[in-house]
Amino acid sequence: MQARPGESLEVLVSATAVEARVRALGAAISRDYQGRSLLLVGILRGSFVFLADLIRSIDVPVAIDFMAISSYGASTRSSGVVRILKDLDEEVQDRHLVVVEDIVDTGLTLNYIKSQLVARDAASVAICTLLDKPSRRQVDVHLDYLGFQIPDEFVVGYGLDFDECYRNLPDVCRLHIHGRKELE
Ligand code: IMP
Repeated sequence: MQARPGESLEVLVSATAVEARVRALGAAISRDYQGRSLLLVGILRGSFVFLADLIRSIDVPVAIDFMAISSYGASTRSSGVVRILKDLDEEVQDRHLVVVEDIVDTGLTLNYIKSQLVARDAASVAICTLLDKPSRRQVDVHLDYLGFQIPDEFVVGYGLDFDECYRNLPDVCRLHIHGRKELE
């Protein structure tokens, strides 16, 4: 896919590598939740592609629901402000939840979501993220299932966007913005 004018893309994690890793994550979740039923909580919008693939690699009974959280908009750095834009429709009390996220950066988003779900008396709350950028972490969040650790670079594709663009790329790509040394 072509980048927009003034931007360029470089593959960081190929679609083939993502596919194999997602299958392995689904198998691990299926093993760990054997005999139980599961609610996957997708964090909109970035997790929708990952969740769609992950759910097809899980072979225990599984339901899905979604939450939307305030995002960076057209900036690439977290404001640290987390706000629920769309809440779950499902009751979570006494249910086993796996929160599905595209990427963990500062950890502020997942820390907030996890504390909200624990406070609603879920039976358990685990976290599954495709990508992890550990170098910018501000709060400690335990990642139960992790696809790939990546360096501190802004990435798009496989559901992740910049300014609502590039979610449709099959690979996870670095985004370069020409004339800007580092994305702010
Ligand atoms: P955190 O609260 O700083 O951990 O931010 C997590 C959220 O920031 C993710 O769900 C993404 O929406 C967004 N984000 C962080 N890094 C990137 C990136 O490299 N590309 C696209 N979105 C990102």
